[in-house]
Order: sequence, then C-alpha cells, then structure tokens
Amino acid sequence: MKISVYHTPEETPDQNTAACAIAIDVLRATTTIATALSVGAEAVQVFSDLNLLNRESELWPEAKRLRAGERGGSKVEGFDFGNSPLDCTAELMRDKRLFISTTNGTRALQKIQASPTVLAAALVNRKTVVDYLLAQKPETIWIVGAGWEGAYALEDTVCAGAIAQEIIDRTGVSLADLAGNDELVGAVALYNGWKDNLVGLMHHASHGQRLVRLNIIEDIAYCAALDTVDTLPIQREIGVLVKHEG
Ligand code: MLT
Repeated sequence: MKISVYHTPEETPDQNTAACAIAIDVLRATTTIATALSVGAEAVQVFSDLNLLNRESELWPEAKRLRAGERGGSKVEGFDFGNSPLDCTAELMRDKRLFISTTNGTRALQKIQASPTVLAAALVNRKTVVDYLLAQKPETIWIVGAGWEGAYALEDTVCAGAIAQEIIDRTGVSLADLAGNDELVGAVALYNGWKDNLVGLMHHASHGQRLVRLNIIEDIAYCAALDTVDTLPIQREIGVLVKHEG
C-alpha cells in the first residue's frame, strides 16, 4: 500500500486515479455523512450544485428524502438542515436519502468519484477506514482533503495522519514504505504532535475558528472525537454513498 495525501481537490491530480480514493472533511461534511449513515439513512447523495440537488431530490418521494445545504458554514435557506452531524438523529434519518451539498466536502467527493473505490473518512470513523484498507489492501490510496475554497485545512490533514499512523501501528509497515508523497509524512507528524489534543487543534484551524464565530461550538468536539462512529461510507454509484456492510 502506498498512501498519497492531497490537501485540497485542486491539488489532486486529474490525469489518473488511485485504486482507492478517500475524501476527508472533518469539519464537517464527511463527519456528517458517516453519522447520517450510522443512524440509518438509506444513502447520502452528494452535490456541489444546490440547484441540481433540488432538481434531483424532487424526483425522490418526499417522505423518503432530506435536504442538507451549507455554504460558508451556515445552513442554506430552504433546506431541511445545514451540515451539522448533531442533526443526524435516527428519528429524522432512518430509511431516508440525505441529499447534501456543502462548501468544500462534496467537491472533494466529486473530484475522486471516478476511482474504483471511493470512501468518506473523518476522525469519528477512522478505525472503520483502516479496517477496510487492511482487509482490501489497495495498492494505491489517495487521501483528498476538502480544505477551504482551495486552501489547506489542518483538520483534514491531521485525519489523514491518524489513518496512516493507525496502519503503521497495526501492521508495523515503515513510514517510508507507506508514504506515497511528502504530504503523507507531514500528516503523520501533525497527527503525532496533536493526537492528545485534537479539539485544541480544531480551534487553531481557520474553519474551526469560523465555526466558533458562527456559534457552532458543539460540532467541533464531536468532529474531533476519534473512532466514535462504526460506519464506513462507500460509493455505490457515482455521487451516492451507502454504509459499507463488510
Ligand atoms: C465544507 O464542506 O467545507 C464543510 O463541511 C463546511 C461546514 O459545514 O462546516
């Protein structure tokens, strides 16, 4: 296995693809996606365009659909939800399809959607991601951070490091053998420097500070918690993620 980390969709190569591509948006899209599926959502369908989301979701039975729209960290007018994982309750989500569009996270997923295997990772479901990778052993793995409008995001990189370090801890593989690029080495170093204070790192992150300014505080601690959600979102068809049953 060789893991390469790309800090944003913009940095991710267009030409080819990896055997397994993983999108990370810790604050908050991939945390929300994993949580929604963990409480029983039928699927999560991702869109980068809000109008297309509305058109496609209109084709779905009203009783079986929910719409989540976020821009700049805030809920988009007219949508059922913004993008808070804390809104994902079993009562609301069970057996429904969540149609979602966020500022960056859904773009990261669209960037990698052509890969043979597409996963959504966050700190909350890190273990399920590593379990899958150790079982399937893809030759090449790309981890793509959502970032923020093309800029680097601390929280996404620390999650990439958390995934890689867990693989190292569980297999004994060397960092040199695992790293597909320098960014992976940097991600592991960032994780090892902050693994005992991930909430603290979130508050250094520019998007964490943006959420605090929006008074979205509780989400941060939830998104920073490691291995609390036993659900791996996997792409079943382009743009549609379901809970991996493995
Ligand atoms: C994103 O897509 O950039 C984030 O998920 C925004 C957010 O909901 O905090």
